[in-house]
Amino acid sequence: MKILGIVGSPRKGSSNDLLVDMILKGAVSRGAEVEKINIGDLNIAFCTGCMECRQNGICRITKKDPDDDLAMIVDKIAQAGGLVLASPVYIRHVPGQVKNLFDRLVSQMIITPGKNPPEIKCRIPGKRNSVVVVTCGNPDIKMAAETLEFLKNSALTCGNGGTVVSELAVGGLMLPGQVNADKRTLLDLASNLNIPEPAVDNMMKQYKSIKEQAYQDGQKLALMKR
Ligand SMILES: Cc1cc2nc3c(=O)[nH]c(=O)nc-3n(C[C@H](O)[C@H](O)[C@H](O)COP(=O)(O)O)c2cc1C
Repeated sequence: MKILGIVGSPRKGSSNDLLVDMILKGAVSRGAEVEKINIGDLNIAFCTGCMECRQNGICRITKKDPDDDLAMIVDKIAQAGGLVLASPVYIRHVPGQVKNLFDRLVSQMIITPGKNPPEIKCRIPGKRNSVVVVTCGNPDIKMAAETLEFLKNSALTCGNGGTVVSELAVGGLMLPGQVNADKRTLLDLASNLNIPEPAVDNMMKQYKSIKEQAYQDGQKLALMKR
């Protein structure tokens, strides 16, 4: 099975990126083929709201601009049997580039009018289970609630009837790659933020356990029936 990781953090070496790597490593250990894309590296124009896609499922930007990457992503999702969606929290929600990808993916959704809650079906064939990852700077993970909800709904819609196998949410992440940071770096961070020194050992334990969880989630995703 092929598993596609989609990373929403624009930072190089971000915690999102590292956690997706761990999930994909776990998946590889169970025989999956994996691929990772970073939304920040792609060329995805903003949705113009023309609504042409509501008629025929074809995005006007995709039709006109061969350099736009949406069609390539749709193709990769179509080939994937599992998805990993990861995003940091920006102002309580996903960063603009993540929101924009899913705005553009509306071209791939069929929305039945007059249903409450709305009934949304995906035009991209195949069923996909998923793992979602959310990180935020606030130590209180409640800050990630809207982001998590958005990613889960997006994963379910793109999954075409698949399930969200696991949700990983990590708070208190400020530095790029903080889930892999060494003790010295975390002690410096703690001192800058007036965090008591003993809390650093707990941070290290938490990051170790979240990375183990990520690896196991990848294994689970690779082994799950679609
Ligand atoms: C523009 C911007 C807005 C942010 N807004 C929030 C926020 O509302 N709540 C929060 O807890 N963290 C916020 N953060 C912190 C990021 O969520 C945190 O640094 C990120 O999750 C780390 O993940 P990464 O290393 O994968 O990029 C914000 C960061 C940026 C750059």
